[in-house]
Amino acid sequence: MSERIFIGVAWPYANGLLHLGHIAGAYLPADIFARYHRTKGNEVLMVSGSDQHGTPITIKAEQEGKKPSQIANRYHQQFLGSWQKLGISFDLFTSTGTANHAEVSQDIFLTLLDKGYIYKDAVSQPFCPNCQRFLPDRYIEGTCPFCGSSGARGDQCDECGKPLNPVELIDHRCRLCGTTPQFKESTHCFLKLSAFNDRLLTWVKQQSHWRPNVLNFTVRYLEEGLKDRAITRDIDWGVPVPVDGFEKKRLYVWFEAVIGYLSAAKEWARSSGDEEKWRSFWQDKKVKSYYFIGKDNIPFHTIIWPAMLMGYDGLNLPYDVTANEFLTIEGRKLSSSQNWAVWLPDYLSRYDPDPLRYLLSINMPETGDADFSWREFIRRNNDELVATYGNLVHRVLTFVYKNFNGCVPTPGEIDSRSQDLLDKAENTLHIMDEYLGKCYFKEAIKSAMAVAHETNRYLDEKSPWKVIKEDRQAAAKSLYVALSVISHLKTMLSPFLPFSSQKLHELLGFEGNIEDYGWQLHTPLPGQRLLEPHPLFSKLDEKLVEGETARLEYTSS
Ligand code: MF3
Ligand code: ZN
Repeated sequence: MSERIFIGVAWPYANGLLHLGHIAGAYLPADIFARYHRTKGNEVLMVSGSDQHGTPITIKAEQEGKKPSQIANRYHQQFLGSWQKLGISFDLFTSTGTANHAEVSQDIFLTLLDKGYIYKDAVSQPFCPNCQRFLPDRYIEGTCPFCGSSGARGDQCDECGKPLNPVELIDHRCRLCGTTPQFKESTHCFLKLSAFNDRLLTWVKQQSHWRPNVLNFTVRYLEEGLKDRAITRDIDWGVPVPVDGFEKKRLYVWFEAVIGYLSAAKEWARSSGDEEKWRSFWQDKKVKSYYFIGKDNIPFHTIIWPAMLMGYDGLNLPYDVTANEFLTIEGRKLSSSQNWAVWLPDYLSRYDPDPLRYLLSINMPETGDADFSWREFIRRNNDELVATYGNLVHRVLTFVYKNFNGCVPTPGEIDSRSQDLLDKAENTLHIMDEYLGKCYFKEAIKSAMAVAHETNRYLDEKSPWKVIKEDRQAAAKSLYVALSVISHLKTMLSPFLPFSSQKLHELLGFEGNIEDYGWQLHTPLPGQRLLEPHPLFSKLDEKLVEGETARLEYTSS
């Protein structure tokens, strides 16, 4: 029976390029999950968009002397290009800059206001006497009151991951000029998070299927007790606050960004021609909603967004929030601001998408941080993707193509060794089903690679290349079996390696889109015509390591 699956993926700030940390953290796992479910015949809605508001964008705009909208549009276009090249298959990738998004955000705001979950209060706001302006959260730096880290910002401490209010920072100063801000009175709207504390705790404690890192973090956070949070700001870039007297203020970026998951579903429905279709993903209780995010975004997805949804009422709460850990680069913490990152557009301008998808899948920061290094990238490409899988495919396809008139041979009776291998492939498909359904991607791809490995062993034993001279039938059998397993591999690997899987699908003589063949064994038929083989992957020169690593150092200076 087919299911409906909603997949929300973190909205990247449109103030810079995507890097491998973003991809390993959220976009790749989300895409694997979406492709897997589509292949299973499930109806998937995967959405995200550019986060165009907030100080990350205004800071960048100020640095470049541009308008925030120019910055946001530039990077939005960049993102779209990257998704396409990397094969991140969004059903919709929109932005928080649309009229639809403002409308949906204001509707949620007004409903929560109406129900008493939003209230107004005067607060003292940091104001820089030197710059003569209110300072948004990210324009303030200081020491984290929770963990003592010195580089905390007014909205969040990157070190311990806790969201902060600017006043809570110790030794705070203006990021623009270093002056200690004064505090001036300003009226703001507050989200009454305290009213949801108990309900959230009860709900979260029932989510035993969440990953331990997400669950523990959230429970600890709730047990410390939630404080109400201001959700408006004294800025002019963002979604207007639909309340009299708030003309000069805007909704706080985090409050409206998470609403993007809903507004995007509405936009998607409208452009599909059925305006009400979003309801089938948001109001049908059987639908499971998955959120793929980096670990720095956990509380916004396990606490704040669920609280907003509880207050609004009638929309599905997250079923799972899978937050990956961090990706380090060459053993060092990735940092966009210090340019210690491998930028996605740069990678994609020089390499194919599947080798990166392979490495980041098999080395996914799922249960702990993972490291990306160019040496490891090239090693995994050459020793695993090419040597274990690509060569297996190419060796079998070229040999069959040459010796069996370009057609799948007829196997005759299957011996028990061959049957064992076929059974292993079939079992693996089921095992992967389990893993993928629970968002364990690393184990899933490892089990597929184990089948490739086993098929190599099988061929070493059967040695059809030699046997064909004395016993053509025996060679036909082992080649047929190898072709069958290769065909199963293309299915198992298709969520991870969509480009090469589709190519292999065609080389094996199948037509159309691999996704439409379903999550099941695709046994090629004897006599099925193969296409002329081409290697799926190519070996990379180890000398590349040096140049790539140098490039990284160059940009980091
Ligand atoms: N723009 C935020 C970031 O990059 C993530 C926003 S996720 C959302 O950290 F759900 F709020 F949109
Ligand atoms: Zn901290």
